[in-house]
Amino acid sequence: MTSQCDIGLIGLAVMGRNLVLNMADHGFQVAVFNRTTRKVDEFMAGDAMGKSVVGCQSPEELVQHLKRPRRVMMMVKAGEPVDRTIRQIALLLEAGDILIDGGNSYYQDTERRIKELDSRGILYLGSGISGGEEGARHGPSIMPGGSADAWPHLKPIFQEIAAKVGPNHDIPCCEWVGSGGAGHYVKMIHNGIEYGDMQLICEAYSLLKDGLGLSNARLYDIFAQWNKGELDSYLIEITRDIFSVIDPETDHALVDMILDKAGQKGTGKWTSQLALDLGVPTTLITEAVFARILSSQKEKRVRAGRILAGPHGALEKWRESVDPEQFIDAVRQALYASKICSYAQGFSQLQAASGENSWELNYGEIAMMWRGGCIIRAAFLERIKEAFDRDAGLENLLLDPYFKQAVASNQDGWRQVVATAAGLGIPTPAVSAALNYYDGYRSERLPHNLLQAQRDYFGAHTYERIDRDGSFHSDWIRLRREPQK
Ligand code: 6PG
Repeated sequence: MTSQCDIGLIGLAVMGRNLVLNMADHGFQVAVFNRTTRKVDEFMAGDAMGKSVVGCQSPEELVQHLKRPRRVMMMVKAGEPVDRTIRQIALLLEAGDILIDGGNSYYQDTERRIKELDSRGILYLGSGISGGEEGARHGPSIMPGGSADAWPHLKPIFQEIAAKVGPNHDIPCCEWVGSGGAGHYVKMIHNGIEYGDMQLICEAYSLLKDGLGLSNARLYDIFAQWNKGELDSYLIEITRDIFSVIDPETDHALVDMILDKAGQKGTGKWTSQLALDLGVPTTLITEAVFARILSSQKEKRVRAGRILAGPHGALEKWRESVDPEQFIDAVRQALYASKICSYAQGFSQLQAASGENSWELNYGEIAMMWRGGCIIRAAFLERIKEAFDRDAGLENLLLDPYFKQAVASNQDGWRQVVATAAGLGIPTPAVSAALNYYDGYRSERLPHNLLQAQRDYFGAHTYERIDRDGSFHSDWIRLRREPQK
């Protein structure tokens, strides 16, 4: 048997299969294995037929087909399946060989695995890959991190198969992210931002559909229009398309036949949990996670809806006086300003995590990695790259002149939308959280002097003063004015 394959891939689910075909299309020889070997046979007899792909019936066979240093990529479910696959494959590898996890693994698992494999000389990469089926097949966004010595051996393959952006379509959406679990952390933030973007779009949909009462055909036109401006993005584009799809079984719009219970696999939740640990207010992603949780409690919501009252007659009254075109544009403004806040929060979390883990992340490069191929790809990411080019140490995206101006010029519509939604009883957790973050972040003075007084009153937790340095405690009970009898 000749060891001619450039890379081995384990796990022939949707992402794995399409990555293999993408690699083969770019001239790489790929050996493939799947735990259920029937999938290997089906793949070889189907999509992989006639391509430079070698089907293997065991991990041993896969490893034998690989050039040295061997490169083995795992595309298996995050968690225990990754550890199980590592246990199987690592025994067959030698010092200097490279193992890559291309799934949505938790970054601390990646850090643990790097250490475990390092003791045996095996180089380990944790690489976020985004773009779903189509991205994997024709050019995903790839976010590799881990053992830096492995990167030169993967760079030619990863950058070749990745999506390309830039005026000449030659900038790969794949660059070295950093050591340890940096690649998976950046992918996790990508997913958190994806949660935020999707929730914001859903809130805009709700305001236009439940508020203005617009049809799916009208929604299609609005999203088509939005996709030509600042909001130009993959998620706006697919949302537009969704409004055009008719359910063949019922002849109704398919979106209207779908139960309003959102699923989630956990990356958004991790983003929020880690934001709390870091002390970064990533409020919008967290609201998006909670909104999915609340949506999933359908039966409870149905019961509560029969008991709890909303604003009586508000919707009918509002519809009589609203200018629909003006309100549609206000929703666009709210969506754009909120999106800026969401990315400001996501990048702030990356900055905090980078500092904590000494990753030295390059934020401009991360924005370009997300510019194409991935789920959050958007024209807007180029503006983020430019912001970090202007100031690599930018404390918050909102402080960049372009974004400062963008929010300022969209805030009237944004405020109108939040106020209107509250008046109508339409939930807008993410749009409202974004506005609260913006107003909180720009407030020189917040009411937390009172909160500190409360803490000191009941727990002697002490407070700082505005007129001198130090830590102070007051005997609040002795100093308080007696209530009037
Ligand atoms: C991507 C996606 C991908 C997947 C998410 C969905 O970047 O290609 O983010 O990773 O679609 O895992 O996550 P939820 O099931 O949690 O929505």
